[in-house]
Amino acid sequence: MKSIKLGILGIGNVAKGTYQTLELNRKKIEGSIGASIEIVKILNRRPDVDRGIDIPKELYVTDPYEIIEDSEIDIVVELIGGIEPATTYMADALKAGKHVVTANKAALAANGKMLQNLAQENHVMLRFEASVGGGIPIINAITTSLLSNDFDEILGILNGTTNYILTQMTDNGLAYEDVLKDAQQKGLAEADPTADVEGYDVANKLSILISLIFGVDIPPQDIPTQGITSVTTEDINYATEFGYKVKLLASAKKQDDVFSCNVEPTLVPFSHPIASVSNEFNAIYLTGNAVDDLMFYGKGAGPLPTGSAVMGDIISIARRIEKESDYDLLPLLRYDEKLSCIGEGQHQYYIRLSAADKPGVLGNISSTFGRFGIGIASMVQRAEGDEEKNTVPLIFIVYKTERTVLDEALQELVDKKYVEAIGSVMQVHRPAH
Ligand SMILES: NC(=O)c1ccc[n+]([C@@H]2O[C@H](COP(=O)([O-])OP(=O)(O)OC[C@H]3O[C@@H](n4cnc5c(N)ncnc54)[C@H](OP(=O)(O)O)[C@@H]3O)[C@@H](O)[C@H]2O)c1
Repeated sequence: MKSIKLGILGIGNVAKGTYQTLELNRKKIEGSIGASIEIVKILNRRPDVDRGIDIPKELYVTDPYEIIEDSEIDIVVELIGGIEPATTYMADALKAGKHVVTANKAALAANGKMLQNLAQENHVMLRFEASVGGGIPIINAITTSLLSNDFDEILGILNGTTNYILTQMTDNGLAYEDVLKDAQQKGLAEADPTADVEGYDVANKLSILISLIFGVDIPPQDIPTQGITSVTTEDINYATEFGYKVKLLASAKKQDDVFSCNVEPTLVPFSHPIASVSNEFNAIYLTGNAVDDLMFYGKGAGPLPTGSAVMGDIISIARRIEKESDYDLLPLLRYDEKLSCIGEGQHQYYIRLSAADKPGVLGNISSTFGRFGIGIASMVQRAEGDEEKNTVPLIFIVYKTERTVLDEALQELVDKKYVEAIGSVMQVHRPAH
């Protein structure tokens, strides 16, 4: 039986999950390939640290090029994370004729096209299932079974940490800071949660999905991105009254030749399947013009779910090696000249204002919205407000408008002192059908 040899870069959560997945299901995995899988080297930059896993010490190397340049190794599995040096290591491995499997969304969002080109030039495979949605096989689905479809819109809950925080705020009425601390204690949030709570992690994943689904190359920094740090329990309670859940939603939409995308806290109607995705779970919802509505749901992180996705990529490459088939490229970055990211498009919005508690204020607000062409869909006025300032909260849901137009209208309300402060503005998702 042929032996397919792996070198793993990194010995963190996902590397250990990958090692454990292989050990857990080795017989089935090797049976499905028709060859044995052998991990021959693991990059461990601190070999003296207890990694909490029983791995033979002789597998550890401290120089990544002992793996990248090892002529015996067929597949390099990059699991160190971050843009650099991970990109350089992957590029050098591809140039050295190795197939590469990675879970690294940051490196792929930044350099996916370059790495894919290198794979093509060197007749090797680059696979990255675990980079979006952890254990959810979304990349495999959209690049194989769903290829015959055209998609107009995708929606995603792509970050378990923020979904956990928003779920706990919604279900238990807890404040953002308290839930974040709890999530950090439970290992569901990093010590430095910036990439998660500011939405950057989701923007990386959305950039990868957009390249695969729409063939548009949009770097994550060009995706309008807002995190969850300013979402309050007050807003979540009002959203509930209106019949919505607040979710950090990644969305991308194509209407004719116009493309819009963003990552931001969004009100999702209770009736939408994605509203029921709770805690650390992820989901991707998409509608194909042949297959219709689909939702992929599962664990977006964690050593074993992510290890399962990494092993899936290893198996698909190993089967080709075993059968001596030609290399196979994912249809990544089929750049479509016609589409360009034009920003956020038109959406409904939820707005919380604090306004003077006196007659005529509501009329002034609605006539200002009217002059900007903004229609009011629903409104709630609360009797209890800030007694000292003599203000009360006013909550609106307005019909579709551009965010820039809405911001101009809100600025005018503040300038004319019709409202004392803008509490919050969030997008409202309206399903197309
Ligand atoms: N965690 C998840 O659930 C999850 C889910 C989906 C995708 N991913 C992606 O999977 C990748 C790995 O994530 P992880 O959670 O496993 O991270 P992690 O636990 O922090 O592990 C990273 C590993 O890489 C090593 N490393 C980092 N920089 C290195 C360098 N310059 N040279 C040599 N070794 C280096 C670290 O060594 P030390 O331990 O010595 O620092 C550690 O062993 C990332 O791209 C991440 O975005 C993770």
